[in-house]
Amino acid sequence: MNETRNDPAGDDPFARLSYRRLIAWPARMRRETPFLEAALAAAPDRSAVDLGCGPGEHARLLASWGVRTVGIDRSESMIEQAREHEGEFGAAGPRFVLGSIDELVVADDRRFGAAFSLGNVLPYLEDEELPRALAAVAAALLPGGVLAGQLLNYGPILAGNVRSLPLNVRPDPADDAAEILFLRPLKPDGDGRHALFFPTTLHLVPGADPPVRLERTKEVRVRAWTWPELDAALDAAGFDERRAYGDVERGEFAPDASSDLVFTARRAPR
Ligand SMILES: C[S@@+](CC[C@H](N)C(=O)[O-])C[C@H]1O[C@@H](n2cnc3c(N)ncnc32)[C@H](O)[C@@H]1O
Repeated sequence: MNETRNDPAGDDPFARLSYRRLIAWPARMRRETPFLEAALAAAPDRSAVDLGCGPGEHARLLASWGVRTVGIDRSESMIEQAREHEGEFGAAGPRFVLGSIDELVVADDRRFGAAFSLGNVLPYLEDEELPRALAAVAAALLPGGVLAGQLLNYGPILAGNVRSLPLNVRPDPADDAAEILFLRPLKPDGDGRHALFFPTTLHLVPGADPPVRLERTKEVRVRAWTWPELDAALDAAGFDERRAYGDVERGEFAPDASSDLVFTARRAPR
């Protein structure tokens, strides 16, 4: 696998964001495990690439099952965090690569049975990047390989009906009396195809004055991919058996109501 582009830190929306401490990973992993297992069970080989792997928690879980796993992410700070897990499970890895999905190159004898894009990764790819990324993923998969992903369902967000993701409250590892509040307001960007996302962390210290202090806030513009757009892009990249679900339990996808867009697709056998 090669990596040819390296975002300057100023363009990295995840620089300095301690994503690992902001997510309730054990609960999330419990919820997502059956989805990951089902994708692997349908895959031609127990190997996986985690696209936009973030701090590497999914890659670590997959490697702990003996799945040969590589995570790729274009954020230096994410890859730095992920590398704390590197090689924890011997030959299974996980291994981490700094790079962009659309520039993913995998040698034929290192192709994967499955690819995952979890946690709203694809909306970071713009119109010209998504087709390149899906073609690169198809080439990195074995014939019949499975791509399984999850992003927000942007239908209700673009309509202005959903203005925030749920609030996360996490303990502050540096201070027993304090908590970190992770807010994620959202707003349609007005062009009908993008959304603005404002990941914000607040520090809550009961008894302090003021009790809530802004730690960090940022504006991120994402491509609000809808299922018809993604379905067409998957089709063009050579993926069959394309299915959309409303959650990782694979409930029905309701374009106007589901909070998530979860999908699976299979690389056509050559
Ligand atoms: C919201 S995080 C999700 C991380 C992790 N997959 C999860 O489920 O928690 C999105 C990740 O996608 C990465 N990303 C965005 N665009 C990318 C690209 N073109 N290539 C590789 N990684 C990308 C970001 O750097 C970030 O780590």
